[in-house]
This record gives sequence, C-alpha cells and structure tokens, in this order.
Amino acid sequence: MKMETLPTLLLILATAQWINGKFLGCYEDNTIRLLPDFHMFVDNLNSPARCVHICKQLQFRYAGVEYSTQCYCSSDRPYERMKRDISECKMKCPFSEEICGGPMRISVYSTDSNVYPITDPGTYIGCYLESGNDRTLNHYQLNLFEINSPERCTRSCTALGYMYAGTEPYDQCFCGNTKPANERKTEESECNVQCPDSQEKCGGNGRISIYRTSVYSNAESIVTVSDERLKSNTIGCFEDSDNRILSEYFSCLDVTNSPKNCLYVCQQFQFKYAGVHNGTDCYCGNVMPSPSRKRNENECQVSCPNSSERCGGNMRTYVYSTQKFTTESNSALRIGSSEKQAAVEQGAVNGRHQRPAVMK
Ligand SMILES: *[C@@H]1O[C@H](CO)[C@@H](O)[C@H](O)[C@H]1NC(C)=O
Ligand SMILES: *[C@@H]1O[C@H](CO)[C@@H](O)[C@H](O)[C@H]1NC(C)=O
Repeated sequence: MKMETLPTLLLILATAQWINGKFLGCYEDNTIRLLPDFHMFVDNLNSPARCVHICKQLQFRYAGVEYSTQCYCSSDRPYERMKRDISECKMKCPFSEEICGGPMRISVYSTDSNVYPITDPGTYIGCYLESGNDRTLNHYQLNLFEINSPERCTRSCTALGYMYAGTEPYDQCFCGNTKPANERKTEESECNVQCPDSQEKCGGNGRISIYRTSVYSNAESIVTVSDERLKSNTIGCFEDSDNRILSEYFSCLDVTNSPKNCLYVCQQFQFKYAGVHNGTDCYCGNVMPSPSRKRNENECQVSCPNSSERCGGNMRTYVYSTQKFTTESNSALRIGSSEKQAAVEQGAVNGRHQRPAVMK
C-alpha cells in the first residue's frame, strides 16, 4: 500500500465505524445498478452515514453512495468482480470531507442490520383511475427510475409502513394508507404500460396499478396523522439555511408533500422532528432547531403541491415533533403466533412494517 493512501483509508475506516456500517470498498457501477433495490438523490445532504441510515431503516443489507449525491440500497451483496481500487472513489460528499463514490463508482457499506430483507410481492387489487390533482394513493411518492416494478414499489412502501403501493408509468411509485375507492376501479386493459424492469404493467395513461402490501392492518396501524395530532405536535416556523436545521433525512415530495405526510415519513424513520420547506421538501432530524431562528407564521405560507395546506417557505421550515406518537417496535408479539410464523417464513417479521404507529 502506498503511504499516501493510508490517511484516506484510515479516515474511511473511522467513518465506517462511526456510522455503524462496515465499509466494503469501492465498486464499479453501470446503468444496471450494482445495488438495485432502492435509490434516491439526497441532494445537499448525502453522506455515508445518512445513506446507511436510510437503507437500514428500509431494511436493506447494503448501502452505497455514488457521484456525491446518490444513495443506493440492496438486499444482495455486490459482485466482488466489480470491486475496484479504493482510489477510484474520490468524490467528496456535499458539505463534507467524506467520500461519496465517483462517476460510476460507488462506495459500498454493509448496514449490519440483522433484519430480514423484505420480500413483499404484494397482492394485486386492480387498475384504478389516477389524476394529478386527486391522487388515488396520496401519501408518499418514490421515483424508482429504471428499476420500477410492482415488487420493488411494494417492497419500498412496505418498508415505510404503508398498506397500499401503486405503480405508474414509467418510474413512479406511490404509497398510501387509504383504500382506493371502488368507483375509481377501471378496466384491466387500461393499465397497459409495461414497467421498466418487469414484464408486468405499471399503470397506464391516467391509470395506476395498485397492490395491497403486507403491512398489518388492525385499528392501531391506521397510520394517517389526524388533524388534532398534527396541531398538538406543531413547533412552528423557523428560518433555515444551506446547512438545513433538520439535516438527517431529506425527500423531495413534489406531488405528495404535506405536513401530515412528512410527519409520517419522519416518524417511520424514527426521527424526532419533521419539517416542511418551500412547498415540496420534507426534512427529518433529531435536533430541535434553536429558538433564536423562530419566525412569524406568515413567513411559512408557501402552498403544498396541489393543496391548500401550507408547506413552509423559501428558507423557512415549518417544524413538527414526531415524539407524541407511540411506536411499538414489539407489536409483532401481539399478532397470533401462527400469523407471526407465516410472517417469519416470508422473511417479513421484524417489527417494522407491522409496527402500528399509534396516532389518535
Ligand atoms: C396538479 O394538478 C393539475 C391539474 O389541476 C395537474 O395537471 C398537475 O400535474 C398536478 N401537479 C402535481 C405536482 O401533481
Ligand atoms: C423555493 O421555491 C422557489 C419557487 O419555486 C424557488 O425559486 C427557490 O429557489 C426555492 N428555494 C429553495 C431554497 O429551494
């Protein structure tokens, strides 16, 4: 080993230890992704720690950062033959001295999570009407790009604790907790667009293909956030900056952002705070913003996408606490033992997606 690579290596090893994920090395990536199961752009906030955290929460065993801002997750170990010299991963993460892969180079970590990777094919329930200003599943959206398929969409929604998953052309995947209305059901033949990565259909023109996930639905797991809960968890409008006040998780929900949806997502990831910013942005974090940054309500008046609700402002984040939610990580113990066994056999039980998020 050349001496000058040693400090870098030590830094990476030290980082790996700090993030509680083991650094596996620098790998070559290509358009058929090395870690194909989940992917998101964590624009100004990517770091190995955040990516490992997200993948771990989504119950994937491997996490990888690439091209500075991209984070990938997978259940399967990356191919050893794609491993490259560590010096080929040399792009800095945004706002940090850490390394976040490179162009078509991915820094891979194991998430060290002893969880069962979710395989949830879902149960197909039909082809439904979809409309931009009245979404059939309107709680969460993911862009799965070239890897969109019913299985991946269902798995992602399951990991986030949603009961329904829906695929649309071409890369879109939506999650929700409200059963789609029967009146919206349409002819099967209208869902006729093939998914990018499966022989199955991913909706159609103004149509969405919907699946019921394996998320356990008893009364307690009705996970939408009520008006009263939202109100009692309000902290207020805060001034933000390039170093975001809630910086541990970011998602651009350009179709579905709202205080309730953002709060629910942050809660599922077990963060203490959620904040909506400038219409479409949802941030999560564990540090309460400083009271000195608090601003008047009228500075947080940007509308949420296609909704009359308010979602913060430009460099203004409207913050909520997720703390009053009672999450019971051991709820699996309360399902009947035969059901639990079936869930174990499906590789599904781990207390996460069956965990009821109790919100009254
Ligand atoms: C908002 O609604 C309009 C129709 O009123 C629709 O065309 C547009 O795509 C919607 N925007 C989003 C982000 O869904
Ligand atoms: C907020 O949204 C406005 C309008 O879309 C945009 O011009 C501005 O750059 C955004 N600000 C941030 C911090 O993203």
